[in-house]
Order: sequence, then C-alpha cells, then structure tokens
Amino acid sequence: TDDSTRELLLSRIRDVPDYPKPGVRFKDITPLLADPKAFTALTDALAELSVRHGATKIVGLEARGFILAAPVAVRAGIGFIPVRKAGKLPGATLSQAYDLEYGSAEVEVHAEDLQEGDRVIVIDDVLATGGTAGASVELVRRAGAEVVAVAVLLELGFLGGRDRLEPHLLGAPLEAL
Ligand code: PRP
Repeated sequence: TDDSTRELLLSRIRDVPDYPKPGVRFKDITPLLADPKAFTALTDALAELSVRHGATKIVGLEARGFILAAPVAVRAGIGFIPVRKAGKLPGATLSQAYDLEYGSAEVEVHAEDLQEGDRVIVIDDVLATGGTAGASVELVRRAGAEVVAVAVLLELGFLGGRDRLEPHLLGAPLEAL
C-alpha cells in the first residue's frame, strides 16, 4: 500500500480507551467500514495481495475477518472459505485449539472446502497475540492446502504476534497493511 492509502486507512481506525476492559485501547474499524473510499481502498489492496501471491482460496477469520475477506474474494474472483469459532459449521470439520491468556479457544473449517493444491491467503482485521492466525494457518495446512500468505489490516506489534505466528508460517509472509 502507498503512503496515502495507509494514511487514509489509519485515519479511519478509532482508538477506544478502556475497552473491553480498563487499560486496553481497542482498535475500532467500524469508521473504516462506513467510509466507502477507505473500505474500497482496503479491499483493493488485499485483492491485489491475494492475486500477487497466486491465491486460489481466501480464508477469512470470524467475525471481523469475514467483513474484510468476503469483498476481497469477490473483487479478486477467488472462493471464500470461513474459519469459524467452534460449533458453528454444520458439515464435517477439522478443529484446531490454541491457548489464550486464560484458557483456550478453538477454530474450525469445513474439511471439504480445502484440498491439496489449494494456495490459501488467510485474512483477518487485527493480529494481536497471533493465536487465532497461528491456529488458522495450522488448520489450513492440516486440510491439505498450502498457506501462501497471512494478511491483516493492523498488526499490534507490542503484543508479539509476529513472533508467535512465525513458526506456523513455514516461510510464508505476514503482510500487515
Ligand atoms: C479478534 C480479531 C482477531 C483476533 C486477534 O477477534 O478480529 O481475529 O481477535 O487476536 P489474537 O491475535 O490475539 O488471536 P475476536 O476474537 O475479538 O472476535 P471477533 O472478530 O468475532 O470480534
């Protein structure tokens, strides 16, 4: 993304202090979604990335990742595959658990949606601790597909997500717009 696009995108992300709990600054992307110029610029940038990496499938992560990944899939003419929180998909699924600060979480994908030979770009809004993206990358690979890139709008660098994700990427790039 060029400097003016980055500036536009950053200007449409709202910092919300003390949400969801005291001491946390929440990054709210709803102003960006409400601005067609910014949302289109983001969609175009992610579609360009997807095509450049030769992706044949776009995986979006529930729920905010869906909002970004779905228009990218349409724009790029590539199929959209949802990775969902556990218990939401009706068909035969693969599941991947990952650790949270307290406890654990689980993501799932329909096994039949990904096959050997598929080149997948994983799209989400925010990389925080990297747990969600790391588990999703493992899920995609266990389904037999190759991960060609992980792309996020925002990387919260101070949380160390890039380092936690790195061992799962097997050389694929993390692209943070
Ligand atoms: C947020 C965000 C990412 C994830 C990043 O989703 O959209 O998916 O957390 O955090 P991590 O890098 O520490 O795993 P959240 O679980 O809040 O769900 P939502 O998208 O449904 O709001």
